[in-house]
Amino acid sequence: MRTKILPINEESLAEACEILLCDGLVAFPTETVYGLGALGTSPYAVMKIFEVKGRPTDNPLIAHVHKDFDISELVEVEHDYVNKIKEAFMPGPLTLVLKSKEIVTSVATCNLDTLAIRMPSHPGCQEFLAAIDMPIVAPSANRSMHVSPVTAQHVYDDLSGKIPLILDGGMCTGGIESTIVDCTGEVPLILRSGLITREMIQDVAGKCEYADALVEGQAPKAPGMKYKHYSPSVNTMMFGRDNLAEARKLYDAQTAIGKMVYFICDDTIAAELNNCNVIKLGSSSEEIADNLYEKLRSAESICDLLIGVELDVNNGVDRAVMNRFGKACKG
Ligand code: TXA
Ligand code: MG
Repeated sequence: MRTKILPINEESLAEACEILLCDGLVAFPTETVYGLGALGTSPYAVMKIFEVKGRPTDNPLIAHVHKDFDISELVEVEHDYVNKIKEAFMPGPLTLVLKSKEIVTSVATCNLDTLAIRMPSHPGCQEFLAAIDMPIVAPSANRSMHVSPVTAQHVYDDLSGKIPLILDGGMCTGGIESTIVDCTGEVPLILRSGLITREMIQDVAGKCEYADALVEGQAPKAPGMKYKHYSPSVNTMMFGRDNLAEARKLYDAQTAIGKMVYFICDDTIAAELNNCNVIKLGSSSEEIADNLYEKLRSAESICDLLIGVELDVNNGVDRAVMNRFGKACKG
């Protein structure tokens, strides 16, 4: 199968809709990462997503809808806080888990009684979702366990020959996947951290907690959190900020035997690593989120060993970014 990359316009959207309505897959941009979409009502089409990505079939998918879509067609909204959260942050990098009305196929929800639902804010994505006007279920458009894609080329690198069309909406600006919030109980629970933080949700909903999934040693509630994720295809290792001397010893020893070694770290740490190969991620967490996946992918073609140095974690955004960076560099 030849994989086309097309800019988003009337013609390419018509082609995308035709492919989806015939049970095919289309990759599309969002403000977080690129998604690999199928018609959410088609068990046959949704099954293709698992096959193409090599994704475990117990890891459910998010349904994406346009901003004017009435989500009560797909899910039950049982708690008052849900509308407050929705009003404040949707469209945006946020996914709500609600009781499913089973319009979206159970192949997508992996037989859970809940459905994860998201309204991306990326303008090209909104156009795409409005054109199809149906729920599009989509995971990130990477090979399972690889770094999430933030450009059309990244999707092509992972999935060329396996899907017919990638809609090109430029580089994603948010950089890490949406915050996932379980809204089925009395208190909204964060299942996966992201750029919409607990503090931000607490401000509008009055309450919000992290789920057990994010507490060390407890069973994860978002099934996908148990899998290894976001890994570049080079050896990686992560060091603490107070352990730079040890990291430097590893760097020197590996370099001495002819390995191409790079550090990947924030700009503050980079300034301390004189005469080393360094991939600089930026200063603020927002900036680092924006760069992270692009830089992790770029490392794959230039080095044998990538040494991460932990970020400074002071707030919810830092925590979300460090969560992804940690998973990528723990090897
Ligand atoms: O930003 C994003 O969320 C991107 C873009 C494409 O929208 N999507 C994304 O999808 O990151 P994916 O498949 O890589 O991650 C979806 C996560 C998984 O951890 C999965 O277990 C969880 O969402 N999930 C999906 N449905 C769920 C449900 N009903 N209950 C709990 N967790 C669910
Ligand atoms: Mg993913």
